[in-house]
Amino acid sequence: MISPLSILRGLTNYFHIHVVSRERGRYMEFFCLPALIFFLLSVLSLLLFLHTKNQSNHCIPTGIRTYPVVGTLPDFLKNRHRFLEWVTEVLIKHPANTIAVRGPGDVGGIVTANPMNVEHILKTNFENYPKGDWITDVLHDFLGGGIFSSDGEMWKAQRKTASFEFSKRSLRNFVMETVQQEIQNRLIPFLQTATKTNKTIDLQDIFERFTFDNVCMVAFNYDPKFLFFDDSCNLSSSPFALAFANAANITAERFRYALPFLWKLKKHFNIGSEAILKQSISTVRDFAMKIIRSRRSSTNKENTDLLSRFIISTNNSDELLRDIIISFILAGRETTSSTLAWFFWLLSSKPQVEGKIIRELESVRTQFQKGPSEVFDYQELQEMEYLHAAVSEALRLYPPVAGGLESV
Ligand code: HEM
Repeated sequence: MISPLSILRGLTNYFHIHVVSRERGRYMEFFCLPALIFFLLSVLSLLLFLHTKNQSNHCIPTGIRTYPVVGTLPDFLKNRHRFLEWVTEVLIKHPANTIAVRGPGDVGGIVTANPMNVEHILKTNFENYPKGDWITDVLHDFLGGGIFSSDGEMWKAQRKTASFEFSKRSLRNFVMETVQQEIQNRLIPFLQTATKTNKTIDLQDIFERFTFDNVCMVAFNYDPKFLFFDDSCNLSSSPFALAFANAANITAERFRYALPFLWKLKKHFNIGSEAILKQSISTVRDFAMKIIRSRRSSTNKENTDLLSRFIISTNNSDELLRDIIISFILAGRETTSSTLAWFFWLLSSKPQVEGKIIRELESVRTQFQKGPSEVFDYQELQEMEYLHAAVSEALRLYPPVAGGLESV
C-alpha cells in the first residue's frame, strides 16, 4: 500500500534531482518560482487528502471520509437520498457507535447511537442539550412556540399539561371513541369496497388519511374527512390536509440542506419550495385560528379534545394555542400511519405471526363476549399481549422517529 510518507519520499527525491540539476544551471528557466509554489501547494493538498482519507479509513474504519475544507460534506451529499441507512451503516462500524461530522465553516456535530450517550443526552443531562437556534430556526415558521420548537419553561409547561391530560380517562375515552368510529365508518367499509371491486389500493396513503382524521379530531374536534370515499372507492381531497402535508414535508426538507443559507435565501425571495411553504403555513394557521376563536366564544363546555383542555388549564394566547395544536397534529400524524403501514407489510410475509394474532383476538372476543363485528375497547386491548409485542417489534425494526437533534 502507498503511504503518504512513501509518496513524500518519492517526491522529495524527484525534487532533489531537479534542484541538483538546476544548480548545475541546466533547468534554470523551467523551475521558475510560481511553478514551484503551484507544485508545492498541489503536493500539500494531495498529502492532506491522503492523510485524512487514511485516518478515517484505517484509524476509525467507518467508511465516512473527512476532506480538507469541506469535511464530511461529500459523503453526506452522496448519501442524502438514503440518509438513515447510510448513518446506520457508518455508526454500526464504529466501536463506540459515535462519529463526528463536519461541514464547511463551523458546521459540525456528533452523531451517536450509543445507548449510554443517548441516556446522557436525553435523560441524565437533558438540561444541557436544548434544541438551540439551529433547530428552532428550521421549525419556527411552521411550529412557532409549540412543543417541538421550544425549550426551557415554555417546553416544560406544554409537556406537563400534555402528559397530565393524556393520562385522564375522559381524553382516553374520547380517543377510543374517535378511533372506533373512524375504523367502523370509514376504514373497514373502504377496505370492504376495495375488496369487492378488486381495486388496488395504496395502504400507506389509506393509513395516512386514517390517522390524519383521528389526530385532528383528538386535537381540536375537527373532522377533515380525509378518508371519505365514494362507491367507486375514489377518496376525497382535503385542502387542510394537503396544506398540512406540504408544510410538514418542506419544513423537514430544510434539515437536509447541506448549506442552510440556501433555504433562507429562498425564503427571503419567497421562491420555490419556500413560497409553497409560506402559502401552506398560512392555510393551516388560518384554519386552526378559526377553530380556536370559535371555541373561545362557544358556550358549549362539553368538548373533551386537547384544544379545550389547553384552553381550560392554561392561560395561553390564541397564537400559542394554535402552535400547540399544530405541533400535536404533526406529532401524531405520520408516526402512527407509518407504524401501521410497516406493521401490515411485515405481517404480510409472516403468516404464523398473523395466525397467532388472530387467535389472540378470538380468545379476547370470547372472554368479553363480543360479537364478530364489534370493535374492541380499551380494556380488551390491554389483554392483547401478543399483538402488543408484534407492534413493538415493527416499531423496533422500522422506527418512525429514528433520530433526534439536540444542541450544546
Ligand atoms: C407510533 C406512534 C408514535 C411514535 C413512534 C412517537 C415517537 C416519538 C418520539 C421518539 C418522540 C421524541 C422526539 C424528540 O424528542 O425529538 C416523540 C415526541 C412527541 N410525541 Fe410522539 N410518537 C408517536 C405518536 C404520537 C401521537 C399519536 C401523539 C399525539 C397526538 C404524539 C405526541 C408527541 C409529542 C407532543 C411529542 C413531544 C414531546 C416533547 O418534546 O416532550 N406522538 N414521539
